[in-house]
Amino acid sequence: MALLTAEHLTFAYPNGLCALDDVSFSIEKTDCVGLIGCNGAGKSTLLSVLCGLSTPLNGTVTLDGIELTKENLALIRNMIGMVFQNPDDQLFMPTIYDDVAFGLQNRGYTPDVISRKVSTTLKHLHIEHLADRPPYRLSGGEKRSAAIATVLSMDPHLILFDEPTAFLDPRSKRNFIHLLRSMTAARLVATHDIELVSLACNRVLVLKDGKLLADDTPAHVFTNDALLEQAGF
Ligand SMILES: Nc1ncnc2c1ncn2[C@@H]1O[C@H](COP(=O)(O)OP(=O)(O)OP(=O)(O)O)[C@@H](O)[C@H]1O
Ligand SMILES: [Mg+2]
Repeated sequence: MALLTAEHLTFAYPNGLCALDDVSFSIEKTDCVGLIGCNGAGKSTLLSVLCGLSTPLNGTVTLDGIELTKENLALIRNMIGMVFQNPDDQLFMPTIYDDVAFGLQNRGYTPDVISRKVSTTLKHLHIEHLADRPPYRLSGGEKRSAAIATVLSMDPHLILFDEPTAFLDPRSKRNFIHLLRSMTAARLVATHDIELVSLACNRVLVLKDGKLLADDTPAHVFTNDALLEQAGF
């Protein structure tokens, strides 16, 4: 059974703009899937629908056999982690330690477990030294790593990334690609970064005007000139 199944997803904004048009695909437990398409193709909208922040007009999302509905929203949110495009949307506590501990506290873990999980996650991301720093005093790349830590510490089954390498310098980008490849959870990564998709993803979804143009391996997609042209690359 696939970890996530999206069937016939259609979404329109209140102004009537149809941002997703009958999109269907699935994600397996160990998949790292790229999500590409030009500006306005619908990538961020799709991530928002998958994690229950936006409600589709039509279609269903199923995670681990549980359908995403109002009633199941809390359950699904527990299994999905979202790394937003802007880390400032994710970091709001006085220190990075507190930010990473926040979700764990909400889950009711004991202080011992929380402290252990926070330090393991910060170490894994090589940012132990940032634990006591306030988020607004960090560089863009450091903020990005901290935002990822808040998600990873929750052991999600599926992690959604929205343009994770935007504003990263080449070294930080390489580190992120390395990290992405080392993750065991399923991953869906919206990005304009073809190198990232080629190096880290086993599949890639191509969106254009809210429609899914392709669902294939990076090797097939990036050698299909007609498809890339159609997608607006
Ligand atoms: N809040 C909103 N209200 C109305 N239309 C919106 C809203 N947010 C996005 N859109 C429109 O929906 C479409 C899809 O936008 P979306 O943000 O999903 O694209 P994207 O693929 O993430 O683009 P980018 O690469 O620029 O991040 C675009 O036409 C956009 O203008
Ligand atoms: Mg976007």
